[in-house]
Amino acid sequence: MNKHRVLTGITTTGTPHLGNYVGAIRPAIEASRDRAVDSFYFLADYHALIKCQDPEQVRRSTREIAATWLALGLDTDVATFYRQSDVPEITELTWILTCVTAKGLMNRAHAYKDAVQKNLDAGEDADFAITMGLFSYPILMAADILMFNAHKVPVGRDQIQHLEMARDIAQRFNHIYGETFALPEAVVDDNVAVLQGLDGRKMSKSYGNTIPLFSAEKALQKLINKIKTNLLEPGQPKDPDDSTVFQIWRAFATPEQTAYMREQFAAGIGWGQAKKELFELVNAEVGAARARYEELMANPAHIEAVLKKGAEKARAEAAPLLARVRNAVGIARLD
Ligand code: TRP
Repeated sequence: MNKHRVLTGITTTGTPHLGNYVGAIRPAIEASRDRAVDSFYFLADYHALIKCQDPEQVRRSTREIAATWLALGLDTDVATFYRQSDVPEITELTWILTCVTAKGLMNRAHAYKDAVQKNLDAGEDADFAITMGLFSYPILMAADILMFNAHKVPVGRDQIQHLEMARDIAQRFNHIYGETFALPEAVVDDNVAVLQGLDGRKMSKSYGNTIPLFSAEKALQKLINKIKTNLLEPGQPKDPDDSTVFQIWRAFATPEQTAYMREQFAAGIGWGQAKKELFELVNAEVGAARARYEELMANPAHIEAVLKKGAEKARAEAAPLLARVRNAVGIARLD
């Protein structure tokens, strides 16, 4: 009953890549195997609408991300795995929270402030192309979290402020209407690698430098061959700590394999050979899941059924809390 609740959301705008896998998906699936925690993982499709107005892309990404988590072995009998839009209690809570959230708090959100600054730098009106969705984004995220009284929320560094805002909003609600919400905490794991992409910058869809997690074997090999390196020839010693090839290697390798590759760099392994070995290592880890992924992608009805079951589990948790919240604010039956 008093299990620790861990919750995190994945925005459905892109195709999962190696960076997502190493930085978020793999640790989350591992964490969900710990019987002392109660994990809630969800597809944040309403968050997707803030960044993406291409319906086909939102649909495709939702299917790809769901298939990815299932292919990698997320046990949906243990974890609660659902799609945000299947839990209408979350959007209902969003409005109630919107009514206790100070506009000044939202004015301070980094994502919003960056958008305003970009406009000003470009000589545009401060509000140019900024939607209320972007402005209110942290409130929807607070509702995602508070709806399930989650204690720990694993996120990237860029999301810490949103967690602080969720706590602020929860405290505000509790202060006005009485103790209702647990105060969530961000969990930022400094041990998980932030992978570099093909060009050496952080692997990110917005830089167009990603290696999709379930690229077909040939495509994976091709992409790994494209990773930027320096011009050192075979036989010349290379610095592993300055190499994207080595950095990705390390994220997939055992400590022994990491030590082995370090030695190979010192001994002057050629880039072609290092990349070939990297391909084999990555492919060995994702190969079996790739086959399951392809099966799942070809069977959306199965994914849909799994998500529907997840939504039922989630709603069974959300509905009683939302009923309390509605009652607390005076949205209640009259008799
Ligand atoms: N905003 C998060 C991101 O872009 C995704 C997200 C939405 C989320 N709702 C959440 C993460 C709730 C943690 C908890 O990464």
